[in-house]
Amino acid sequence: MAVLSDRENKKVTNIDRDGNQVDNKKIVYDTKDLNLWYGGDQALKNINLSIYENEVTAIIGPSGCGKSTFIKTLNRMVELIPVVRISGDIRYREKSILDKSYTVEDLRTKVGMVFQKPNPFPKSIYDNITYGPRIHGIKNKAILDEIVERSLRGAAIWDEVKDRLKENAYGLSGGQQQRLCIARCLAIEPDVILMDEPTSALDPISTLKVEELIQDLKKDYSIIIVTHNMQQAARISDKTAFFLNGEVVEFDVTDKIFSNPKDNRTEDYITGRFG
Ligand SMILES: Nc1ncnc2c1ncn2[C@@H]1O[C@H](COP(=O)(O)OP(=O)(O)O)[C@@H](O)[C@H]1O
Ligand SMILES: [Mg+2]
Repeated sequence: MAVLSDRENKKVTNIDRDGNQVDNKKIVYDTKDLNLWYGGDQALKNINLSIYENEVTAIIGPSGCGKSTFIKTLNRMVELIPVVRISGDIRYREKSILDKSYTVEDLRTKVGMVFQKPNPFPKSIYDNITYGPRIHGIKNKAILDEIVERSLRGAAIWDEVKDRLKENAYGLSGGQQQRLCIARCLAIEPDVILMDEPTSALDPISTLKVEELIQDLKKDYSIIIVTHNMQQAARISDKTAFFLNGEVVEFDVTDKIFSNPKDNRTEDYITGRFG
């Protein structure tokens, strides 16, 4: 299946091997000639990527190739670093987020992020989930209770924690903490969830649970996941972008990347010749 994107007309067409149009998914994120420098070192080079709605998009590539930098530009976390300079454009839902009139607060209510190491707040499970909604002014206890249950159910952890909502989140296992962090993301009803190696600190069983959860969440959210683990990308993603030295070498349907890549460097990487 080939992916054609016509940025100017905002039209996206997915075409199967026989040339039939199979769907018409919307673009969530779209980068145009995106470059990023840390001082004099260029970490992202001319990135042109379109991320589609209700898909899991995996970002793979060797350590230091710019995966975290890329995902952190999508919610403007990199701009906290003084030496960072960016050129090009990033559009989220057709609006340029690098535009000064686009506030970070606005963006962060639409785009949630889950990090490599689970980072719950040192508060109760309940307060972890209600933190975001409270900031947004929700005070009603019944509504907060409902958000807590919905978010924890959405992150497939409700049954494990429903009888200990007042306990400190630090008492949960690593895998449970990570699902709690996903639940905390869901509480603000985001559109997109960014994940930077979300299972790299987890045991295999917790990893499997989070992978199943990601598959389930794509019905309602668009997910971009950085992963070191190629099997994970192959298992859970619809599209895969292979990054190398700050460039996107290849971006395509995941099955294609792993069975029949176009570029020799992708082939070398997925067959384990480097990385
Ligand atoms: N805060 C920073 N200041 C300077 N250089 C950085 C910073 N963060 C990352 N880099 C550099 O940018 C490049 C890409 O890093 P990163 O995005 O973390 O890659 P990855 O996530 O693929 O391992 C690396 O060369 C790294 O050293
Ligand atoms: Mg990284």
